[in-house]
Amino acid sequence: MVIILDGKKCSEMRLEHLKEEIRNSGIFPRLATVIVGSDPASKMYVRMKHRACEQVGIGSVGIELPEDSTTEKVVEAVTRLNRDTDIDGILVQLPLPKQVDAERVIEVVNPQKDVDGYHPENMGLLFSGRPRFTSCTPTGIMTLLKEYKIPLAGACAVVVGRSIDVGRPMAALLINADATVTICHSKTKDLVKELKRADILISAIGKAHFIQPAMVKPGAVIIDVGINQLDGKLVGDVDYAKVVEIASAITPVPGGVGPMTIATLMENTFRAAKVKACDSA
Ligand SMILES: NC(=O)c1ccc[n+]([C@@H]2O[C@H](COP(=O)([O-])OP(=O)(O)OC[C@H]3O[C@@H](n4cnc5c(N)ncnc54)[C@H](OP(=O)(O)O)[C@@H]3O)[C@@H](O)[C@H]2O)c1
Repeated sequence: MVIILDGKKCSEMRLEHLKEEIRNSGIFPRLATVIVGSDPASKMYVRMKHRACEQVGIGSVGIELPEDSTTEKVVEAVTRLNRDTDIDGILVQLPLPKQVDAERVIEVVNPQKDVDGYHPENMGLLFSGRPRFTSCTPTGIMTLLKEYKIPLAGACAVVVGRSIDVGRPMAALLINADATVTICHSKTKDLVKELKRADILISAIGKAHFIQPAMVKPGAVIIDVGINQLDGKLVGDVDYAKVVEIASAITPVPGGVGPMTIATLMENTFRAAKVKACDSA
């Protein structure tokens, strides 16, 4: 019997628990989001994050900058949020318009407020096995795997995709959890051979229904990070209807990884607020 890794249910439980924790803490965490331009998908993600803040009792402010903003303008906005002692967490919604130097903007975020975990200092801590803030999507996946008691120690995990927000931190988190990790990307020579070895296959490519049953080891755990449009429907990287037949566990799209990402952002923001409260006590 295949296990459906229900990220929606798991995230709702975690958000309920977090709401309770925040209520009892006497702390009022605040998250600031920065969005540049009016990309509809980015606007929707930011709206969902503000809605989650409201649900758990985190205050939120949204900074909206015009599409033609320069790197300097974005850096100025982030610097103001760094200085604002009322703000615990800063999230810069990616991707940024192409004239904006995203790496520079990420480096400007105060690492103590970097609830997305993209700052090189936080990445470095993660890769050295001493994580502080870790990227929300891979961290949410780790939470989901833990929730469903998927064994990781010694497992052969294959991550497809090497982006800064998913693939790379995902691999580091899996290494830290004692999995044996392979990262694949568009230049990987024999992708199917690599994928067929996977006890745990994590796909973060961004190509609808790319992963087919012939690429999957029977009994593998399948984590589908992809968010793609196909014939007007939201689908993952995995051809779910076919792969579900041979997997031992699988995340649906929607309702798998996405909700866990948002729950993790809320948890990271509360953690940043708690650290600040301890430091100033
Ligand atoms: N559910 C969520 O919360 C969540 C969060 C973040 C992202 N996503 C989704 O996850 C997907 C990936 O996001 P991302 O930001 O990581 O994307 P990205 O920055 O575009 O990275 C895609 C990765 O896939 C690799 N790739 C592309 N085609 C490939 C192929 N044919 N074979 C092997 N590897 C291939 C690329 O390799 P190269 O490096 O060689 O180009 C790259 O490393 C997107 O659909 C995105 O919308 C979902």
